Amino acid sequence: MTGVAAALVGALQHRVPSGVVVSAADGAVPGPFRGRPAPSGRSPESRSARDCARAALAVLGRGHADIPTGEGGQPVWPTGFVGSLSHCPGLRVAAVGRIGVASAIGIDVEVHRPIRPAVAATIVCGSEVSMLARLASSHPAVAWSAVLWSVKESVFKAWYPLTGRWVDYAACEVVMHPDRGSFDARVVAPADLRAQPTTPRTFAGRWVVVGAHVCTVVIVPAWRRRKA
Ligand SMILES: CC(C)(COP(=O)(O)OP(=O)(O)OC[C@H]1O[C@@H](n2cnc3c(N)ncnc32)[C@H](O)[C@@H]1OP(=O)(O)O)[C@@H](O)C(=O)NCCC(=O)NCCS
Repeated sequence: MTGVAAALVGALQHRVPSGVVVSAADGAVPGPFRGRPAPSGRSPESRSARDCARAALAVLGRGHADIPTGEGGQPVWPTGFVGSLSHCPGLRVAAVGRIGVASAIGIDVEVHRPIRPAVAATIVCGSEVSMLARLASSHPAVAWSAVLWSVKESVFKAWYPLTGRWVDYAACEVVMHPDRGSFDARVVAPADLRAQPTTPRTFAGRWVVVGAHVCTVVIVPAWRRRKA
């Protein structure tokens, strides 16, 4: 692992619970499979992110594993493990943990640049409008709209395997803690899930900016699954 990937892992690994392993790859993705599309039909980025996931699984003692795709697009992990993966231009990442450590993981990587105002308007909700204005003034070097977007995608990737349900960006309200490199998020669940005590509502995570990328990760503690 070199360059940005190594820097990203160095920045994130000590911020996630012990037992969760982060892995990354940067630069150009490996080319087509023997000059042809891969038999799986996966993009090179998706395959490279899965290689990261397999490297993380190997650290956790799990040898070669298939990581197929579930009906909702989610990666399906070997029994006893949870995880998440993400890919964007120049970087692929994965985070994997044992079920005894985490009940769900969400990870997301984006290019660190402001997102278009028209797009930002569709993802920002509630107090986030004033929060983004304050953050732009106090920490102008950070593209907060990109960080917020990434946080919401990480939250979704942790939320979906626990509930099997879609959630709109406007139903997820985020509070950033800029000096701690962390955030909290609250999801307003669909009405029929609200009455269920096991529905996850709050999520906590970490964010880092490394080179030209921002990466966010959400770890849902294992006790939530035990309560379920
Ligand atoms: C699915 C989504 C989160 C993927 O994010 P993205 O930035 O477009 O792409 P990334 O490369 O970061 O992530 C792609 C990976 O996400 C994972 N993923 C896709 N659907 C998923 C789901 N339902 N649950 C968990 N993980 C999922 C897959 O591993 C996928 O990679 P793969 O297809 O190679 O296996 C995003 O496209 C989306 O649809 N978001 C809308 C819902 C949302 O984010 N709501 C926010 C409020 S909680």
